[in-house]
Amino acid sequence: MDELTKELNEIARAMVAPGKGILAADESSPTIGKRFAALGIESTEENRRSYREMFFSAKGMQEYVSGVILYDETIRQSASDGTPFPRYLEKLGIIPGIKVDTGAKDLAGHPDEKVTEGLDGLRERLAEYYELGARFAKWRAVITIGDGIPTDYCLEANAHALARYGALCQERGIVPIIEPEVLMDADNDIDRCYEVTGKTLHSVFGALYRAGIKLEGMVLKPNMIVPGKKSGQKASIQQVAEMTLDVLRRNVPAAVAGIAFLSGGQSDQEASAHLNQLNKMGGAPWPMTYSYGRALQMAAMETWAGKPENISAGQQAALLRARANSAATYGKYSEELEKAAAGV
Ligand code: 13P
Repeated sequence: MDELTKELNEIARAMVAPGKGILAADESSPTIGKRFAALGIESTEENRRSYREMFFSAKGMQEYVSGVILYDETIRQSASDGTPFPRYLEKLGIIPGIKVDTGAKDLAGHPDEKVTEGLDGLRERLAEYYELGARFAKWRAVITIGDGIPTDYCLEANAHALARYGALCQERGIVPIIEPEVLMDADNDIDRCYEVTGKTLHSVFGALYRAGIKLEGMVLKPNMIVPGKKSGQKASIQQVAEMTLDVLRRNVPAAVAGIAFLSGGQSDQEASAHLNQLNKMGGAPWPMTYSYGRALQMAAMETWAGKPENISAGQQAALLRARANSAATYGKYSEELEKAAAGV
């Protein structure tokens, strides 16, 4: 095995190490701006910086978090002590990662469907991010469920982009997180989510195969199988876990280094409980962990509320979620334990 492949495999394994998951802190400035605005927090560069530092400097975070996905602005910022964030994370044993797509845009000629952009100049951008310390990257494809959609064309276009991105990352010694997200916002039932997710994964792994992606040197970031938010339906934790594991087992090669789920709008407790059940059931050929954004951050963001005097309380809220999800990777999470830890 050549050095590059060995390195990729080592990074990928470290990202999904037992008890650890990924903190997705890569919201673009417009996205974090919206989340701040909803809580009345002003979105200045300094506010965004100190918000991110709150998570990175929470005592013991490195026990639960293997890597952090940064945004372009954040990877160039520094902690209060002047240490650049990537270096600050490395010193803690946390791997710095970077979001490299430039967003999901309308797919021409295909109403209500999206394709993710960002391939032009990506080789050069990856070289710069590598210099800045990034050792893994993220690219998110967005698949919408609706009447007659997703079309095969949309699935192919997104899978193709994910594969080209993945190959460019691996060429540079950066582990790609391959994220094909089937959105959970529509009115579809859980069976339709299962069907579309299966089709999406099948299309993605076909494209990855044709691109020559090394499966041991990548991490898959999928959605779980849930009913659409507007369906009014509710699935049990057991059903979500069973259908999620089933669709993954049928479509994801066992050689993939690991699976790190997105939370996609699930509540904090649901995201932890589903991951927990997935790991409790056993029978998966890959480690399964989290790469949560909202489910790791929102409680802390609300507690912090943009006020420096709340940083310590915000860190406790962040650690509570990180610890809960870490326990879920072992199948040892329970809401009762969580309430006890929170002193509720
Ligand atoms: P959520 O967990 O909030 O879905 O975010 C994860 C992510 O990185 C989406 O790209």
